[in-house]
Amino acid sequence: MKLLFIGDVVGSPGRDMVQEYLPKLKEKYRPHITVINGENAAGGRGITEKIYRSFLQWGAQAVTMGNHIWDNRDIFNFIDEAKYLVRPANFPEGTPGEGIKFIKLNQQEIAVINLQARTFMPDLDCPFKKAEELVLEAQKRTPIIFVDFHGEATSEKQAMGWYLDGKVTAVVGTHTHVQTADNRVLPEGTAYISDVGMTGPYDGILGMERGAVIHRFLTSLPVRFEVPKEGRTLLSAVLIDIDDKTGMAKKIDRILINEDHPLYT
Ligand SMILES: [Fe+2]
Repeated sequence: MKLLFIGDVVGSPGRDMVQEYLPKLKEKYRPHITVINGENAAGGRGITEKIYRSFLQWGAQAVTMGNHIWDNRDIFNFIDEAKYLVRPANFPEGTPGEGIKFIKLNQQEIAVINLQARTFMPDLDCPFKKAEELVLEAQKRTPIIFVDFHGEATSEKQAMGWYLDGKVTAVVGTHTHVQTADNRVLPEGTAYISDVGMTGPYDGILGMERGAVIHRFLTSLPVRFEVPKEGRTLLSAVLIDIDDKTGMAKKIDRILINEDHPLYT
């Protein structure tokens, strides 16, 4: 089976890219399951129920999140009922939502796990211990286990990849918004990439209006970052080819679509 994962969708430019390109990607690569990271989908901060529903309508089977999970307050209105929304699992006990969801596909089930790293990020419960616990839970139901590890430091993400090698299908990094070229299948069969990259404005800085970001670097003054409304856009994703029986990955390919790298269909 093939799994398509689309990296951090930023604001309406990112959503427009998903709407336009997801059907084309599906036609070209024929993934059996599509997962989208939607933690920046509402104006760069959080997600709304309407956006979550549109991702499902456009063809995603699960939506993962990250450190911006609570930034749009609409999340509290629907997270408990959102069957396909996965929030970082290592928030403290009692936090709304769930960090693992099982997606049924014909004969097969896929576990989708979301974890948040701790280096240069808010201090949550240990993502490694949480991963271990959730992997044991998932393995009782399916060998196909997908992990979106939302983190800043490549070292922490590599550590998670190696820690889970042979135990899960894939560990893909999100959050930095820049696609890394280190996609590989680790020796025991886990697909890995440090960061899938973002989907949204191509000429901003990590998807935000670049003038404000530069101003902040120049002055150290607090500045509100906004998603540019116009301009060129990109889509970042990975395609993972999975052995259905063992749940191990055969291949992980990077996908990057922008004006410099058009999609050939
Ligand atoms: Fe993030």
